[in-house]
Amino acid sequence: MTKTYKSVRGTYDFSPAEANLFNELAEGARKIFHLFGYEEIILPLIEEEGVFVRSVGETTDIVEKQIFRIIKRSEEDTSIVLRPEGTAQVVRYYLENSIYKQRSLSKFFYIGPMFRGERPQRGRLRQFNHFGAEAIGSKSIYLDAEIILLAMKILEAIGISQVKLNINTLGCQSDKEKFQQLLREELAREKSRLCDDCKRRLEKNSLRILDCKEEQCKKIANNFCVRDINDRFYLCADCKKDFNDLMSILKNSGLKPDYNPCLVRGLDYYTNTVFEITSGYLGSQDALGAGGRYNNLIKNLGGPEIPAIGFALGVERIILALNKKGKITPQTAFVALTGEKLINEAYLILQLLRNANISADMDFCAKSLKGQFRYAERKEASYVVIIADDEYKEGYVLLKNMETGEQEKIKKEELISTLRGYIADGEGAA
Ligand code: HAM
Repeated sequence: MTKTYKSVRGTYDFSPAEANLFNELAEGARKIFHLFGYEEIILPLIEEEGVFVRSVGETTDIVEKQIFRIIKRSEEDTSIVLRPEGTAQVVRYYLENSIYKQRSLSKFFYIGPMFRGERPQRGRLRQFNHFGAEAIGSKSIYLDAEIILLAMKILEAIGISQVKLNINTLGCQSDKEKFQQLLREELAREKSRLCDDCKRRLEKNSLRILDCKEEQCKKIANNFCVRDINDRFYLCADCKKDFNDLMSILKNSGLKPDYNPCLVRGLDYYTNTVFEITSGYLGSQDALGAGGRYNNLIKNLGGPEIPAIGFALGVERIILALNKKGKITPQTAFVALTGEKLINEAYLILQLLRNANISADMDFCAKSLKGQFRYAERKEASYVVIIADDEYKEGYVLLKNMETGEQEKIKKEELISTLRGYIADGEGAA
């Protein structure tokens, strides 16, 4: 028997209605990005592996376990991967084009798929889409506020309610190192209770223990954060002030940020502000989106010292939280024929309609008139143009209004103007 195929585990097929919903959400997001002055870029799905190893971090789950490598064509080929996220890639683009030489602040947004070889479950896919934004060139705490407000505004415009904004600061690089050191010292005492991965993380990158999937490890690390560093005593004065100011700006802007001392995020490039937006509707994979500052990333990828901040929203999780399926695009007109020999005439009328910019379709499966009407209903056609032998010979077609069921006989030459008139009146406009 011939093998049949299924979609790859952890990927999602968008049906026509779901594709419409996706595009609607993307259009909504695009409008808000523009409202805030962000410019769209479309970057490749493949990148050199080093872009992510040197930014997301060698000891992160994404790089250690989830990278999809593309098979090399020759030994000389650089290692190419499917992009697991957009930030490092945007920085690569920014540096490659020396954009910092042209302007001090650059604000980009992107919409597109990311790939991570995760263990699939509800809300966790191997290919998923991001609505992402990156603002590169300023340290201003007002830019932190802008990025967070932008992410929240997109969710609000899309119609997601009941979201929670979790926020924390890792401090500047030296504060972050202090935090890591504190965590290392504290968790060393609990080493025997940590999983094997976390025993290794303890030496190499203690922050990563906070995003371990093992409950026991997460609990030990979270306890420490809540109990011992809740007051962020390890932060330098500037970082402390910045964080307090940011909290005030957010509150004055009508948000209710929730300080979460355990929030560190699973990517190494973050410094200072980190945030995550969660939804109660999502179960265990509850983050709708997340982001933060990455003031050292541009330098680490070979550029000058330039601060930046950004976020990405997970589109499939937004769709899960919305719990909507989307709608197909209704057709204005549908051409039906009473007998097979009229196919040429019907096809001419179909072209006439399309050339007049009236969305139209017909059934190419040569079914009975009843079958053609069923298809027209599925396409949610507002009008069916019936090509019937006798009438057509006399220069007429029949036009049926699918909503009222009324049918009229009109001259072929008047079909377009009649339909246009109906559409303009708001009857069954596509
Ligand atoms: P991230 O937290 O890895 O951050 O991803 C952002 C969002 O993408 C998550 O909150 C979630 O909604 C969605 N997401 C992540 N992984 C999956 C998955 N396997 N399946 C479905 N959805 C997923 C970043 O990628 C950073 N680049 C965000 C950023 C931009 N930080 C600064 N600028």
